[in-house]
Amino acid sequence: MGGGPMGPGGLARRMGKGEDIGDFRLNRTIWRRVLGYAKPYRGTIVLFVAMVVLGAALSVAPPLLFKEIIDQGVLGGDKRIVILLSLIVAGLAIASALSSLVERWCSSKIGEGLIYDLRTEVFDHVSAMPVAFFTRAQTGKLVSRVNSDVIGAQQAFTSTLSNVVSNVIRLVLVAGAMIVLSWQLTLASLVLLPIFFIPARIMGKKLAGLTRRQMQYNADMSASMTERFSVSGALLVKLFGRPADEHDAFAEKAGGVREISVQIAMNQRFFMVSLTLVAALATALVYGAGGLQAIDGVLTVGTVTALAGLLAQLYGPLTQLTNVRIDVMSALVSFDRVFEVLDLKPMITEAEDAVTPEAPSSVEFRDVRFTYPNAEEVSLGSLEAVAGSERANTEVLKGISFRVEPGQTMALVGSSGGGKTTITHLIARLYDVTGGSVEVAGTDVRQWHLAGLHDRVGYVTQDAHMFHDTIAANLTYARPGAGEDELWAALEAAQVADLVRSLPDGLNTVVGERGYRLSGGERQRLAIARLLLKSPPIVVLDEATAHLDSESEAAVQEALDRAMENRTSIVIAHRLSTIRDADQILVVSGGEIVQRGSHEELLEADGLYAELYDKQFAHRD
Ligand SMILES: Nc1ncnc2c1ncn2[C@@H]1O[C@H](COP(=O)(O)OP(=O)(O)O)[C@@H](O)[C@H]1O
Ligand SMILES: [Mg+2]
Repeated sequence: MGGGPMGPGGLARRMGKGEDIGDFRLNRTIWRRVLGYAKPYRGTIVLFVAMVVLGAALSVAPPLLFKEIIDQGVLGGDKRIVILLSLIVAGLAIASALSSLVERWCSSKIGEGLIYDLRTEVFDHVSAMPVAFFTRAQTGKLVSRVNSDVIGAQQAFTSTLSNVVSNVIRLVLVAGAMIVLSWQLTLASLVLLPIFFIPARIMGKKLAGLTRRQMQYNADMSASMTERFSVSGALLVKLFGRPADEHDAFAEKAGGVREISVQIAMNQRFFMVSLTLVAALATALVYGAGGLQAIDGVLTVGTVTALAGLLAQLYGPLTQLTNVRIDVMSALVSFDRVFEVLDLKPMITEAEDAVTPEAPSSVEFRDVRFTYPNAEEVSLGSLEAVAGSERANTEVLKGISFRVEPGQTMALVGSSGGGKTTITHLIARLYDVTGGSVEVAGTDVRQWHLAGLHDRVGYVTQDAHMFHDTIAANLTYARPGAGEDELWAALEAAQVADLVRSLPDGLNTVVGERGYRLSGGERQRLAIARLLLKSPPIVVLDEATAHLDSESEAAVQEALDRAMENRTSIVIAHRLSTIRDADQILVVSGGEIVQRGSHEELLEADGLYAELYDKQFAHRD
């Protein structure tokens, strides 16, 4: 086992194990970074704070006016004062309503703007990740980062900011007014505070931990659903699945959510009840002690009423302030989970002085060694299903060297698992070599502009993917702006035009995940049409005809021949004809080139090639 990937690592790693929020240390750099996101909204934030202050002041004024209405108006028998002050109270109420609307406008502008900024940034960053990242990260968990964590982060700005500012101001105003009215009664009613304060703190801390666990369970649940509710996932479950086990696994996660949610609900209610109770006790105290003092003439009736009214406003801000620390922490944790994704350095980055060479498209490997990266190098423990310990990967390519001249065809053969697909992945720099170098057009791929390199190389693999979109959209993805006649030409060359013509909506038929179900051979030919449209100078065909029946295979083969015309081609195939015509054939086994030459040379040499030929190819054609 060893220590596993959970070293003394970052915060997020620890959080990934479901630790309590209370342990989260306030970190200066996070703060500075969070504030950086607020910068564009400076003007709105100023208006927002102004509205919060105004709102707080407006809510303290009425009880003080009530005091005057009772003492001077009602008890003093002055109707003018009663009418005038009531009108002022009404005016303040309207002003308060308006300021609350403006405040909400500001907070949603800031909040939603922030969500937008973070989302687009995370999306762009994740899109730039190498394939290795996607082979590891669970889609569902990744999606929940972009959805819920971003929203959590946003709350730091709106609810927390407004909570802190408005509650502090309200507390100062309310307490100040109360002390002026009767400092003795104010002190007496504050004596009850600790009764409430202590459970509030304990609860708050507990709640934060529970909420974090709830988020984790939710993310797990959605990850397992995203996986099983995709077409291929659902198919797998149907064909192999044990429904009872599936049920149990899901029920366990959903059950976790249920248990925690009940706990959260009870904790919240306990919190509320203790608050209401303490506030009610304090009110009883004000009326009791204040009433007695009013009889003795120490206080006026209006003062007692005003004190009771203000007291009701004292406990609200106090409660919210007791939990501010927790709120800020949860918000920061969300920010941190988002930053964690943003900080993940893509393993493959463009060189500062990257170039896009014009030279003819040769491909050359020089003593290439390659080991697949470990989980820690490409991904985040918290985005994976099992962040368990993992043994180091073994070397997959052990010194591969070859050169394909521009326009030539090279075939790779060998038993499965030998490293053929891996070799092709290195050409478009889906991974970086661990030793040696890969050159395209005479330039190391690490020196290429990534976009230029990807324009130069096109792939057709065994399981070509189509987006859930129209055929036209899938094709033009390879070359935006391609005209309809160009699309038809590509479809024609890929032997799939007749099929598309026969579809009810033609080019506008929706394919992919939940669209029209193409057969394996049809999808393959569509993928070839896409490649033809892109028209890259270098094509890689990785078992593009595997698993097809012989009729589709013939059609696909014809399409492939078109794709390879006048191009530098690297072909992994089991079709004898493709391999026979190749300019050179490499026999790959165990990450090494064990034989190389032309078809005839290799057959004569009587090695692995001859053996494979007998086994795989002889009965075909
Ligand atoms: N993403 C990956 N991470 C770790 N190992 C991998 C990965 N992909 C392939 N391998 C390993 O690399 C070796 C070569 O695989 P591959 O290049 O796909 O072989 P081939 O295409 O010749 O069948 C295999 O042992 C395989 O298990
Ligand atoms: Mg392969």
